[in-house]
Amino acid sequence: MNNRRKIAAGNWKMNGLRQALSEVEALHAANPNPNCEVVICPPATLIRSMAKICGEMEINVGGQDCHENNAGAHTGDISAEMLADTGATHVITGHSERREAYAETDALVRSKSQSAWAAGLVAIVCIGESLAHRKAKDTLEIVGAQLSGSIPDGATGENLVVAYEPIWAIGSGLTPTLDEISEVHDFIRAQLISRFGEATGNAVRILYGGSMKPDNATEIGALANVDGGLVGGASLKAADFSRIVAAL
Ligand code: 13P
Repeated sequence: MNNRRKIAAGNWKMNGLRQALSEVEALHAANPNPNCEVVICPPATLIRSMAKICGEMEINVGGQDCHENNAGAHTGDISAEMLADTGATHVITGHSERREAYAETDALVRSKSQSAWAAGLVAIVCIGESLAHRKAKDTLEIVGAQLSGSIPDGATGENLVVAYEPIWAIGSGLTPTLDEISEVHDFIRAQLISRFGEATGNAVRILYGGSMKPDNATEIGALANVDGGLVGGASLKAADFSRIVAAL
């Protein structure tokens, strides 16, 4: 056992109109597990109103991305400072969908994570291999390179959460075996300890993401170095997400 508190983080991606705020109220009412930290990352359009209703609840609100600069001529972008200003406490950086669609590099993800910290946000830094890399048995090499390239110096157990999301498991209904998940999470833990030292390396939470559902959250969440989940589809409905929170 360790004393890392579990986290259930929901990534709503580009889903959710105002009426979806009722899901957060339903989740709060269900109060599935006071021992588990809950973070919801809705589309940017909902952050302000979600943060307002979550003020009284033990639910944190996060952005799904931020720009690496605080302000400037960057049409359509949102800075970490703006996310914090609107009530967010967390931000996802380096999600594979952004790495792919916007060619985000490790260096850019690192800058974004740095600006998240400067704004006082917790960075949820995502890493994960493609199916081709998994088949070529390059998973640890890829994940190791992403980890060292995407995380700035100065990580602590409070400002950093790492999310391991194998790209091929996202939205596919496929998941790695428990042994495969353990192998990668144990590797990430060892890398964090070697770079940031024993205390910090052991304090950073490492989440699993990719087709996490109520049915598999218990066994995945029980693995030694799995400190929770980053959940996409199953975080949209309180009925599903509350079961995952309870399982964790
Ligand atoms: P799914 O849970 O829908 O597979 O998405 C995972 C994810 O990408 C979370 O960031």
